[in-house]
Amino acid sequence: MGINGVEGDKTLQSICYKRGSLRLLDQRKLPLETTYLDIKDTKDGWEAIKEMVVRGAPAIAIAAALSLVVEVSNLASFNGTSDDAATFLRKKLDYLVSSRPTAVNLSDAAVKLNEVIDKAAAEAKEVNSVFQEAYIEATEAMLEYDVMSNKAIGSYGANFLQKHLTDNQKITILTHCNTGSLATAGYGTALGVIRALHAQGVLERAYCTETRPFNQGSRLTAFELVHENIPATLIADSAAAALMNAGQVKAVVVGADRVTANGDTANKIGTYSLAVSANRHGIPFYVAAPLTSIDLFLSTGQQIEIEERSPKELLHTRGGLGEQVAASGISVWNPAFDVTPANLISGIITEKGVITKNGADTFDIAEFVRKTSGDL
Ligand code: MRU
Repeated sequence: MGINGVEGDKTLQSICYKRGSLRLLDQRKLPLETTYLDIKDTKDGWEAIKEMVVRGAPAIAIAAALSLVVEVSNLASFNGTSDDAATFLRKKLDYLVSSRPTAVNLSDAAVKLNEVIDKAAAEAKEVNSVFQEAYIEATEAMLEYDVMSNKAIGSYGANFLQKHLTDNQKITILTHCNTGSLATAGYGTALGVIRALHAQGVLERAYCTETRPFNQGSRLTAFELVHENIPATLIADSAAAALMNAGQVKAVVVGADRVTANGDTANKIGTYSLAVSANRHGIPFYVAAPLTSIDLFLSTGQQIEIEERSPKELLHTRGGLGEQVAASGISVWNPAFDVTPANLISGIITEKGVITKNGADTFDIAEFVRKTSGDL
């Protein structure tokens, strides 16, 4: 049982960690095979992220940081001073951050860990205190914080939606991509809200999109919903507007890879289409994300770097993992994410509460972060 595992907990675990060992569930094989890969160092961690063994903004951050924990834990010896140890860790973190650019959680984790490392190196008398007391303990704390914050997101989101949307009827939610246990250290963000609504007995049904081209919805979210016995229906991405038009969607709740200071949100490609459709049908559209997904250094979504992925994801079935379906020679544009402008977003559900708009129809996220710092 890893330190992030709870005895008797039947939820899916993408990250299995205990001191000195890290195993990642190979999400490319789901739902047909459950295989864990051993991650021994940062090179294994970087490749697992790049190749989508592990994905989802919070899970990427934790898996990357833990791959360095494992490398450090298993170092036979380290020749150098505490400053050398800090430089070693900083370089490894920079390397890990290069694995996937759009999600901010990984660079946010690296910034926070670098601060811890710098402080430890300045105060430390010996190398071990930089590695052990500073880096390893700070990363393990992040792992624990992620699960706790997801549960808080679920609870704030479910209470908010119940208060504003139920009119004594159960709620139907449409979600996109995978934001559950598999995309985080546990429980999930948007899927955490759905789980909490279900636990409170107010969820009528969750609809999940396939999420082309990599099919995180059909392969992962559908799997999690079935696993949790949540009433759920899978739809093609292209069926979402028709579902809304048929009056079957009370709210849309999605995750985020990066939320800028004005509330613009980068998330899995197709999120923007859902927001446009929701707006057309007068359906509220919520983003559920931990504060580690908020990037106050960027003022708008136009500044977000959008990762483009291999053409193979479109040319072949199963997001590039299956046989060829498209004509050889066709050119492909395959952005992995898009940006939904804040004016299409009704609220941002975080572990510290729900950020709603002020009178001017804008979010003041910096003020929310300032006001709630220290809570939880
Ligand atoms: O390319 P992926 O599978 O990493 O994309 C994941 C998403 O876009 C999720 O919606 C987002 O990271 C939030 S996960 C809690």
